[in-house]
Amino acid sequence: MKIIEKILEMQSIILNLKKKSKKIGFVPTMGALHEGHLSLIREARKENDIVVVSIFVNPIQFGPNEDLNKYPRTFESDKKNLEREKVDFLFFPTPMEMYPEGFETYVNLKKLPYHLCGLSRPGHFEGVATVVAKLFNIVMPDNAYFGQKDYQQAKIIERMVLDLNFKINIKIMPIVREKDGLAMSSRNSYLTTEERKKALCLYQALQKAKEMIEKGEIKIDVIKKEMEKTIKEIAPDANIDYIAIVHPDTLSELSVVEKRVVVALAVFIGSTRLIDNFIIERS
Ligand code: PAJ
Repeated sequence: MKIIEKILEMQSIILNLKKKSKKIGFVPTMGALHEGHLSLIREARKENDIVVVSIFVNPIQFGPNEDLNKYPRTFESDKKNLEREKVDFLFFPTPMEMYPEGFETYVNLKKLPYHLCGLSRPGHFEGVATVVAKLFNIVMPDNAYFGQKDYQQAKIIERMVLDLNFKINIKIMPIVREKDGLAMSSRNSYLTTEERKKALCLYQALQKAKEMIEKGEIKIDVIKKEMEKTIKEIAPDANIDYIAIVHPDTLSELSVVEKRVVVALAVFIGSTRLIDNFIIERS
């Protein structure tokens, strides 16, 4: 695996590969890789000639009181994982390489960021859309892989690709979970043993919603109350950021369950903010 730190070098390698009609698959990440990331990389490996992974802890998607400085950085073990998965190129730029003096162009969406996580993380999705647009122009992939874990992020990227005419297929892959159901996340490493147990409240609340919907419950306020109860039973001191049941495309909150909905939540376990979601289809 070749590690590339410079934008111009990455672009010239890609343009050469494109001349040879190689199909490029791309997985953008912030590192601290786990099985969730690796599932995207494996899919990319299956469907492309060349696989590029980026590791870049993108400063502009973190709010002033968020965890930019303590975000886990595990470069050596990430490198080993990527080599094991037969990744061809690791793009690993510095913040200065991505945002040199004078940088001032940002990508903004009008509506999709103003739901779910976007409400409590102002500016977050502007940072995400901007860095992903830059990475797409650097890596020029045919296919790019994102996780359903960050559902709103994936929908925002799909929209951006349509709106700005990137010629890239966006593939959204299922959430990889620990055995007990906790969604894998780089931020799980922040949890103490006690908090790790409490973290299961997100998955259990989603299971509760699924059961209720399967039994025919359609009133969303009733489902949300039960989800909150489940959370408080497992983690009485958890701080619920939001519980929402939304339309899968617009991300607007619903009042009754439609054919296909996304149940999503964000909960603080101690100071760690965790997110999870289920896509639920009513039979
Ligand atoms: P990061 O949190 O490192 O995630 C990289 C990709 O892995 C995202 O598409 C995310 O949805 C996916 N992912 C994370 N946990 C997963 C899980 N348990 N199962 C399946 N996929 C999972 O998301 C980002 O980085 C950044 O915002 C980024 C897109 C790289 C832009 O900076």
